[in-house]
Amino acid sequence: MGNVISSNLSLRNFVPSDYPELISWFPTAADLRLFAGTSAEWPLTIESLSARAEVEVSEAFTAVLDESGVTAGHVEFIRETKDQVRLGRIAIAPDLRGQGLVALLLDRASEKARTAGFRWISLLVIPGNVSALRAYARAGYVDVGPSPVHPEYIKMLLRI
Ligand SMILES: CC(C)(COP(=O)(O)OP(=O)(O)OC[C@H]1O[C@@H](n2cnc3c(N)ncnc32)[C@H](O)[C@@H]1OP(=O)(O)O)[C@@H](O)C(=O)NCCC(=O)NCCS
Repeated sequence: MGNVISSNLSLRNFVPSDYPELISWFPTAADLRLFAGTSAEWPLTIESLSARAEVEVSEAFTAVLDESGVTAGHVEFIRETKDQVRLGRIAIAPDLRGQGLVALLLDRASEKARTAGFRWISLLVIPGNVSALRAYARAGYVDVGPSPVHPEYIKMLLRI
């Protein structure tokens, strides 16, 4: 994939024309579960993404490589308290994984969260998702153990 990592990355609003590509990233129920936990049924559909957008449980963003405009990732913001926001449904496009792009996505998300007045970011990760746990730890997130609210997930926290 060459020099992908030298390209910067931006977040823009996730819009209906992004839905088919996001759906294509999760060809099996196991893939979807790593991404969405129990918050989505496989297969992800246009209808389920539209319904999630309508209820406004989260603000969703598409990560785009600045140089090429290629869609590189996805992330959602879920407000937990006035100081804390949770990042959910994080993914990097399958053919762009393993190049550190999630670190850029997390940097952009931190900037956005700080600008919105949050002081903490939390994440919930399925315990077996070693790629995600390692990438988030490299970005400074601290494993604080099982989530008190959703004990089937590991909670990670970052002070911003
Ligand atoms: C977890 C995820 C966001 C990490 O993004 P990324 O940009 O690939 O992260 P990194 O480049 O830092 O790589 C993370 C680890 O995945 C490994 N990896 C390499 N190629 C990979 C690939 N094609 N697929 C998955 N993992 C890969 C890397 O080697 C690295 O391992 P290491 O920590 O032992 O060095 C991404 O793998 C992904 O979208 N996974 C599917 C959805 C998901 O699990 N989301 C997390 C929800 S909490």
